[in-house]
Amino acid sequence: MDGSALRSRGQGGALWGDIGFNLGVASRLVVLTGAGVSADAGLPTFRGKDGLWEGRNVQEVATPEAWAWEPEVVWRFYQERRQRLTEVEPNPAHRALAELEARLDEAGVGFCLITQNVDDLHARAGSAPIHIHGEIAVLRCEICGEKVRDLDHLDPEAFVPCPECGHGAMRPDVVWFGEMPYRIEDVFRQVGSATVFLAAGTSGVVYPAAGLLQLARDGGAKTLVNSLDEPENLSGEDEFLPGRAAEVLPDLCERLAQEVGA
Ligand code: APR
Repeated sequence: MDGSALRSRGQGGALWGDIGFNLGVASRLVVLTGAGVSADAGLPTFRGKDGLWEGRNVQEVATPEAWAWEPEVVWRFYQERRQRLTEVEPNPAHRALAELEARLDEAGVGFCLITQNVDDLHARAGSAPIHIHGEIAVLRCEICGEKVRDLDHLDPEAFVPCPECGHGAMRPDVVWFGEMPYRIEDVFRQVGSATVFLAAGTSGVVYPAAGLLQLARDGGAKTLVNSLDEPENLSGEDEFLPGRAAEVLPDLCERLAQEVGA
């Protein structure tokens, strides 16, 4: 590997080859992914130029209030995204992270993948991420709490009734603005114990996920950041690896695995 896809802006613009991770047996790598990691699979990001939907930004659609007032609009938005899931495949970034996890696991190095993405591409690549913002492939009944994994009912005009209690419209099992992310205590623990933390494809503006980078720094982790644009929460302490995740992550994951002899 020559690492040519990787250029680091942190630490005086050092090239990738100069970055030493010093991973040891006690190391723990924690990765946070965002919409940029799935962008190369053909799924739109939230804040990019393709971030608007029918002229609205996502903050107007992804809320409990919107679901209460205009459920048809919200449902159409998610049904389009659920349909799109059936048309895309994991990209090299998803696959590299899954392979890295398997190699680190074998080498006895801790690994945790946390994603803000509501798609299922990490899982389809072989990972089992913590979905802090939920998953659009799962529907949840707000009345009885029933959850079903469903990508069969994709009509944008037809709500899906709850198979358990008969309530007429299940919602996507995603975390909307104003709602509490899933497993956040677990995530704080994971990130707090990281020795290497990688944030990839996230703009660093939506909290609490955007605060994880600082939590990792506070815990003494080496922090790596990949994105097309500099995220809001980037600091001079971070190693910034600009570029497309599908190009940067395979090299980066290979390097991380080699560091521990995995
Ligand atoms: N490779 C790497 N990074 C990319 C790529 C790519 N191919 N394409 C875009 N990016 C970067 C952009 O530069 C941007 O910094 O990915 C980031 C995407 O930012 P957002 O669209 O804000 O996505 P994300 O940070 O995941 O959003 C967080 O906001 O709307 C909510 O719940 C939603 O989980 C989402 C949360």
